[in-house]
Amino acid sequence: MCGIIGIVGKQNVTERLVDGLKRLEYRGYDSSGIAVLNDGKLERRRAEGKIKGLEARLSQDSLDGQAGIAHTRWATHGIPNETNAHPHFSGRVGVVHNGIIENFLDLRQEMSHRNFTSETDTEVVSHLVDELLGQGLTPKDAFALSLKKLKGAYAFGVIIDEHPDHIYCARAGSPLALGVGDDEMYIGSDAMALAQLSTKLIYLEEGDWAILTPESYVIYDLNDKEVERPITIISGGPAMAEKGQYRHFMLKEMYEQPETIGRTLANYIDEYRLVSNMPEALDFSEFDRVIIIACGTACYAAMTAKYWFEQIAGMAVDVDIASEFRYRKPVLAKRSLFIAVSQSGETADTLAALRYCKEAGVKTAALVNVMTSTMAREADIALPINAGPEIGVASTKAFTSQLTALAALAVAAGTSRKTISSEQQNELVKALIHTPRLVKQSLRLDADIEKMAFEFSKAKSAFYLGRGTQTPIAFEGALKLKEISYIHAEGYAAGELKHGPIALIEDGTPVVVLAPFDGLFEKTISNLQEVASRGARIMLITDPEGAEHASSLADDLIVLPKAADFIAPIVTTIAVQLLAYHTAVHLGTDVDQPRNLAKSVTVE
Ligand code: M6R
Repeated sequence: MCGIIGIVGKQNVTERLVDGLKRLEYRGYDSSGIAVLNDGKLERRRAEGKIKGLEARLSQDSLDGQAGIAHTRWATHGIPNETNAHPHFSGRVGVVHNGIIENFLDLRQEMSHRNFTSETDTEVVSHLVDELLGQGLTPKDAFALSLKKLKGAYAFGVIIDEHPDHIYCARAGSPLALGVGDDEMYIGSDAMALAQLSTKLIYLEEGDWAILTPESYVIYDLNDKEVERPITIISGGPAMAEKGQYRHFMLKEMYEQPETIGRTLANYIDEYRLVSNMPEALDFSEFDRVIIIACGTACYAAMTAKYWFEQIAGMAVDVDIASEFRYRKPVLAKRSLFIAVSQSGETADTLAALRYCKEAGVKTAALVNVMTSTMAREADIALPINAGPEIGVASTKAFTSQLTALAALAVAAGTSRKTISSEQQNELVKALIHTPRLVKQSLRLDADIEKMAFEFSKAKSAFYLGRGTQTPIAFEGALKLKEISYIHAEGYAAGELKHGPIALIEDGTPVVVLAPFDGLFEKTISNLQEVASRGARIMLITDPEGAEHASSLADDLIVLPKAADFIAPIVTTIAVQLLAYHTAVHLGTDVDQPRNLAKSVTVE
């Protein structure tokens, strides 16, 4: 959610800042901008829309400078236009910001004598620093004092015209890393932004701020005390992910799933001994309850895991949407394990929930894709999913890897709590081992689903129904469709429809029914008939046995390979992903960067 990058060195920085912005574009893409110090003069270029707009601007009107900051925006305050794009300038000061300044209206009021040119919260920061410089403070003191006046979440990069060899930066609530180079220093929202610039990264801690020059960096903590923070060596800068032969990153990432699920499994099971293989730090016999917190797609993985932990390990499970969790002042039972599920490991609400539980003395784990993320660093136990960089804003391979890891964790919990026998453990692990193969087979339905998506794409609204572990997959199917095709969609527990939503079914309303031939099949089919008899157009996603029993009830039929009940939700996911993808492609939307969204949501 907004990406920032900065370089202070001895060579022109513009091109490398733009390259860094491209790596950060997943964080927001409604406008971008770059500012440099050229002979002690602040200059900037900004453009509405994606970074290619900024490149076009720079190609007409280039920028040279040896210190610079850059930003790609996901709008919070003020519409996405050039005026609201960062960097913001006030007098001597230029600033890029990721986060939200919650007291910006009060600060604007206090500085009402100054000329504000944008609608953003960020602009108060450049005014504040400039105002304090005007009162005779040194840049260091002006920056430090400004931070004390701010409430909210931020990661900043600041440049000041009279101090051309310096970048000032700070972090509270939003991620920021420093990169250490030879005669150059860097700041960036994540390791990916800095990957081509440095292998030596320093992750700032909450409340840290720093001053960078080409040869040095000094870090201060919350109390303005100079501190050392460890340098993390990242192995070789990851190349910018490429789409390769695929039309979209989302398609590529869906096709990677047999491999990514396999990589996830390698962390959590021993495929020769058919047992779960857990990190030593995690012993489920210490806990009676699991609290799983996440947002969006990750939360649907958490909801699926609830069924697994309850059924396999006999553990009470609370699942909550992260943005609600801490505000309802949850009662945290003793012997609880908190698990944050997050692809990015940076989602602000999930991180806040993790911190809430940590403060309350609850043991915390973070199941993340990005192992250098804040959640991975702050949780007691970091659990990787190893899905590799996910670039498409719509999460696909991270979701199936989250499901896979959570399923394996449930087996481990059942084993250490002795709620399953060793034979049952072997059977469940065997089912997990079959997942990559079944996912691969499911991907072969791509062309059939593409054809069905043509009719589907004409819908104004669609429903997804499931029961048991298929219910969260129905939610996920609806979310995937909404976010990339912009068709209104809702997922429901199949039994719930008749309690209200069925009123929305009319002739031709598409209803996607997820019904593998399991113990709940017949009940789901009854629900299918309830909507079919009211005119719904049914797309049935099932397996060969399910098709034998119910194909006559379907207008469209997707027959997935037979999977054990335990892992069936992972297999069904492939069908709903493909359906959403092809629908969006038929409609011509921006699949990888859908409107209004960002990959990493670092504001509340
Ligand atoms: O990085 P996270 O997994 O914490 O992100 C959570 C959600 O923002 C994310 O899953 C979002 O719902 C995706 N765009 C869904 O495709």
